[in-house]
Amino acid sequence: MEIDLKIEVGKIELKNPLFLASGCAGYGLEFEDFFDISIVGGVCLKGLSLEESVGNEPSRIWETPSGMINAIGLQNIGIKNFLKDKAPLLRKINTIFIANFFGHKIEEYVKVAKILEDEECIKALEMNISCPNISEGGIHFGVDPLLVHKVVKEVRKSVTKPLWVKLTPSGNIKETARSAYEAGADALVAINTIPAMAVDVEKMDFRISNKVGGLSGPAIHPIAVKMVYDVVGEVPIPVIGCGGVENAENGIEFLLLGARAFQVGTALFYNPNAPVEIIHGIKDYLKRKKLKSVKEVIGRMKAKNKGKDSCS
Ligand SMILES: Cc1cc2nc3c(=O)[nH]c(=O)nc-3n(C[C@H](O)[C@H](O)[C@H](O)COP(=O)(O)O)c2cc1C
Repeated sequence: MEIDLKIEVGKIELKNPLFLASGCAGYGLEFEDFFDISIVGGVCLKGLSLEESVGNEPSRIWETPSGMINAIGLQNIGIKNFLKDKAPLLRKINTIFIANFFGHKIEEYVKVAKILEDEECIKALEMNISCPNISEGGIHFGVDPLLVHKVVKEVRKSVTKPLWVKLTPSGNIKETARSAYEAGADALVAINTIPAMAVDVEKMDFRISNKVGGLSGPAIHPIAVKMVYDVVGEVPIPVIGCGGVENAENGIEFLLLGARAFQVGTALFYNPNAPVEIIHGIKDYLKRKKLKSVKEVIGRMKAKNKGKDSCS
């Protein structure tokens, strides 16, 4: 039986629902030694900003049970270097590239988005709103529904490419999802990392120089599943699940709940071949379930979403 893995996120057609998550696959090219990256549905590039940034001081990563804490500090090569050194290489690869980007002020978000608008290899923009807002004393854009609305609306007005907003699990995700949707987002990605901390009891010091980092990996997967369920129930636009996917089953969970696609991040650090295995695993699942297309899986559990879902 011919298995069809093709899906759409808005107007973008993808060969399958698997994306490499931002920050875990560099600029895509780094994975060429492991597998042909044109097999994945898409690659979300490392977050870009107006100026290049060296990020935080080491230590920036700490492995935890079933996960890791990172505080890379959004290190990146900057938009100009990306366009000069990376974009010409990406144009030759047959997959979809999504530009993840951020700013410390609304004007910075707008400037970066406008520059990315003209790059042909970029098919959509993924706004990382888990960023401190300098104009508002460092409060993260993503936790405040009003700020989310403001920054998404300004970027939306400035670009025509599909605009995806990557939600933070901090704050009330239903409210921030609704704000992003009402401000014009074309799709939402849930979730970014979860604030976390670890202490070295021998040194009596923080494990991460930034003190706080973001927890990712299988440890956060059930939290991400619940948040995707919440966001799918809140907004009518496509949702992309992200958080702790390490095998086909984890990705299928997101799809059954109504996510249109999913991203694989931390798993790439300990199993760079995970995307190959996951794509095979989805095909095997569809065969086992006697389904021809992955579209038949998307949202299949939505009818069951009604009813009791509180803790008590
Ligand atoms: C080392 C590292 C760097 C990351 N950098 C970014 C980034 O630049 N922009 C962004 O939106 N998310 C970034 N993330 C978050 C991931 O894209 C993803 O949302 C999160 O790790 C949860 O997925 P996972 O459990 O599959 O890793 C980063 C995560 C890690 C582990």
